[in-house]
Formats: sequence, structure tokens, C-alpha cells
Amino acid sequence: MQSVKLAIFLSGAGSNARQIITHFENHHSVSIGLVLVTRENSPVIEFCRDRNVRFIICSNKEADSPQFLLNACFKFNIDFIILAGFLRKIPIDLVRQYPQKIINIHPSLLPKFGGPGMYGRRVHQAVLEANEKITGITIHFVNEAYDKGEIIEQHSCEISSCDNVDAIEEKVKGLEHSYYAPVIEKLLNVVYG
Ligand code: GRF
Repeated sequence: MQSVKLAIFLSGAGSNARQIITHFENHHSVSIGLVLVTRENSPVIEFCRDRNVRFIICSNKEADSPQFLLNACFKFNIDFIILAGFLRKIPIDLVRQYPQKIINIHPSLLPKFGGPGMYGRRVHQAVLEANEKITGITIHFVNEAYDKGEIIEQHSCEISSCDNVDAIEEKVKGLEHSYYAPVIEKLLNVVYG
């Protein structure tokens, strides 16, 4: 595989981002060129510091600016963008600059429980209220419409025994941590192999 530089964008605690950084540590072709985080107290920051991974902490206003995001990606020669709990809408200019090169993970089986306002625990709350027996994760390309890009992979889990949001979240996070990084690696092998 040719060498590929990833950017990871996130707004939360970054458990997925940390998993991805760990997965690609010492990888022969893939490196993390930039972690862009909109939460200034995210544990991902200390994690990046400890591992010498470049990070930028930015405001929501900056994260909403196409020019700001493009400048950051160009400056560090980013090839591919991974969203891992990024709560801002990706500007259209970035989608056009990185066609089929931005991916996201959503904590449900899309198209179920997707769309604007459906993120994090709200998704699991809706799943619980709908009495679903199965939920899961969707890894998909990012295009102009929220949660509507082409699906790359989905994985599901049984939640009949889960009677609260925490229990569902734990199961789904387990799937995210098992699958996101390997799916990214598989996809990069296809795109850049
Ligand atoms: C994950 O549930 C992911 O599916 C969603 O945002 C959450 C991020 O969690 N897009 P974390 O910050 O990686 O722990």
C-alpha cells in the first residue's frame, strides 16, 4: 500500500479515536497526520500528547468553517478523513475535496435511527423506546446528506436483555472498538493498495 495520512475529527471522549490511533501505531503505510478535536477537555488530547500525535483543538465556529478544515488538511497533507464522534456537519467543500475519502461511524443500523439530531446516547434512547431487539453500527461514506452516504459495513448485536441506555451503549461501543479500525484498514487497502 502507498503511504496514507489520516485525519481523525471528533467532539467527544474519543474512545474510537484512541482505538484507531493505537491500531495504526507503527503501521507500515498508514499514519495519523492530524487529530482535530472540538472538545478542549477530551481525554484524546492527553493521549495524543503522550504518543506524539499532532492535534488541533478548535472551536465549533472553526469546525464549521470549510476554509479552516481545508487549511488544516492541506497543511498536513491529509489523504483520508475519519469521523469518530464529530458533532459538526461536514461542509460541502470538504466533501468535494475528499470524495469517498471521508467516513463516519454511526451507532445504529442505518437507515434506522439516523439523521439530524441522532447522535450518541440519543440514538440508544430511541432504540430502547422502539423496543428493538437488535441494534448495531454502520460505517459509511460521508456525503452531503446526514447519515446517507454509501454504507461500507454494518455489524449488529442482540439487545433483548438490555433494559437501559447504558447497557445498549456498552454493547454498541464494543462493536465500534472491534470493527472501526480494521474496517478502515481494509478500506485503505482497497483504495490505496
Ligand atoms: C460513537 O458512539 C460513534 O458511533 C458516534 O459517536 C460516538 C463517539 O464515541 N459517531 P467516542 O468519543 O469515540 O467514545
